Amino acid sequence: MKIGVLTGGGDCPGLNAVVRAIVKKAEKGGDTVLGIKNGWQGLVRGIVEPMTDFSVSGILPKGGTILGTTRTNPFKDEDSVQRCLSNYRKYGLDAVIAIGGEDTLGVARRFHETGLPMVGVPKTIDNDLAGTDQTFGYDTAVNVVTDAIDRLHSTAESHHRIMVVEVMGRDSGWIATAAAIAGGADYCVIPERPLDLEDLCNSLTHRRERGKEFSIVVVAEGAQSRDGQVVTQDTSVDQFGHVRLGGVGSWIAREIEKRTGIETRVTILGHIQRGGTPSAFDRIIATRFGLRAVDLVRERKFGRMVCLKGLDVSDVELPAVDQKKRAFDMDFFRDAEVFFG
Ligand code: F6P
Repeated sequence: MKIGVLTGGGDCPGLNAVVRAIVKKAEKGGDTVLGIKNGWQGLVRGIVEPMTDFSVSGILPKGGTILGTTRTNPFKDEDSVQRCLSNYRKYGLDAVIAIGGEDTLGVARRFHETGLPMVGVPKTIDNDLAGTDQTFGYDTAVNVVTDAIDRLHSTAESHHRIMVVEVMGRDSGWIATAAAIAGGADYCVIPERPLDLEDLCNSLTHRRERGKEFSIVVVAEGAQSRDGQVVTQDTSVDQFGHVRLGGVGSWIAREIEKRTGIETRVTILGHIQRGGTPSAFDRIIATRFGLRAVDLVRERKFGRMVCLKGLDVSDVELPAVDQKKRAFDMDFFRDAEVFFG
């Protein structure tokens, strides 16, 4: 078989591990792989490259994606859809493995519905995809934030300051909560629980009164005020309609300083959470996902997405475009809350 493979949406640690597993397993079984560059854009424009064992040598520990990525949505216009269909035929593909988040996989689902054989592999540092118990990239991101919190502890303690750490996750609190638990944060603000500034400041003041002269506050970038407002970087949206979040940490830090009188600093971790080498855990799930994706192609189980169910790799239907996100587990947050204040 000739299998096309692409990576779409925001990059995340582990993408190369999936690509490597797909190419190596396909080659061993006598199948060939065509790399489609820069997400769906590569299928629209016909930018492809044949991949062999040699193309994937040494990429397992590398962050990012050797295939490149964009947030291209071919279903924005009919011409792009037709170009994808004609390039699919031109390159003689038997199936495409799309590695991506809800948007990339939503496009794969739509192509599957038009008759193109598609298999999906879920990725995102945000860990908010329905159908899988965990996505790869998340573990690495949590490790990066935990390391940052560990480092912030020593400077916070020396200066008797409050340190606010803003983390990614879009409108879900998975990264924030996991890192708050792993890093021992003193408060955490997540999108699923509207911000209560009074409670936050009381908690920090109470902590100081008890003789703890510094505090660490983790804030998810999608944190919402009581009336549902989020802080965005500007008003632009990508091809899937997403705004760019970011900046809520700075606002919260200013409010804390104003209300408590305690010197406060903010660190916005941004794309550092997405870059660099994947953790061993992410390399392992990513590799297992890639291997399973090739099995699905060989078994002609199209329209499916590989997933993690507990510790097992399995598969489910590709998510629909309007699929609800994976629900955040508030019990997980309540575990973090035990350590607040
Ligand atoms: O979905 C992954 C993610 O890193 C989010 O956590 C974040 O809001 C967004 O992507 C950032 O996107 P971009 O790389 O386009 O700025």
